[in-house]
Amino acid sequence: MTLQIAVLASGTGSNVSAILDASEEGRLDARVRIILSNKSDAPVLEKARKRDIPVWSRSHRDFVSREEFDKAMLTVIRNAGADTVVLAGYTLLLSSMFIQAFPGRILNIHPSLLPSFPGVRGGGDALAYGARITGVTVHFVDEVMDNGPVIIQAAAPINSSDTLENLMPRIHSLEYRIYPQALQWLAQDRLRISGRRVTLLPDKRPHASSASQGQSLLGPWLVSPSLETF
Ligand code: GRF
Repeated sequence: MTLQIAVLASGTGSNVSAILDASEEGRLDARVRIILSNKSDAPVLEKARKRDIPVWSRSHRDFVSREEFDKAMLTVIRNAGADTVVLAGYTLLLSSMFIQAFPGRILNIHPSLLPSFPGVRGGGDALAYGARITGVTVHFVDEVMDNGPVIIQAAAPINSSDTLENLMPRIHSLEYRIYPQALQWLAQDRLRISGRRVTLLPDKRPHASSASQGQSLLGPWLVSPSLETF
């Protein structure tokens, strides 16, 4: 079923662009109904306006509490007709009340192989630590930061000569593939959560690409589960 997406974002919005591209090109069965930001100068808002996506932007500091801020967002999201919340570089933690309003329908992308390097600088922290493999994780959101059940991960090597400037574009290019893919699986109702584990059900449609035909290796990168359409 077509996902009706509300995006929460605080930054540049390159993942939002990848999701919008995938949906416009028919690879992702989703419609982005609204983009919400806690930062009125976030570049993602300009990207949204250029593509005629409605935006909502308020600072949480204008509300008496974070719960009140989240309540305001909930109202906006419901009025927009969204049933799925996509976090794409959203810098605030969500309240329990918000998370409970969308059970199994809030996803996040994080630029490391969780549970390693949670937090706001996942990519930089992996590099600074000296890790030789890092990557990207898409996961369901629970009440702990960067903690919910993992849907898909993609791994990328870190070379000894890497800097943040050349590592992050590699990380981002993985993000642009695995986030739309995870959302497409959600749209196809193929994700089942059991405790911490997420099972990807087979695609029952005729001519569906099976996981074994999908891409688990992208050059030096490993992706699990395998990509199907991205
Ligand atoms: C991405 O690296 C994502 O993994 C992290 O925040 C960044 C957002 O980038 N959660 P963008 O705003 O989508 O360009």
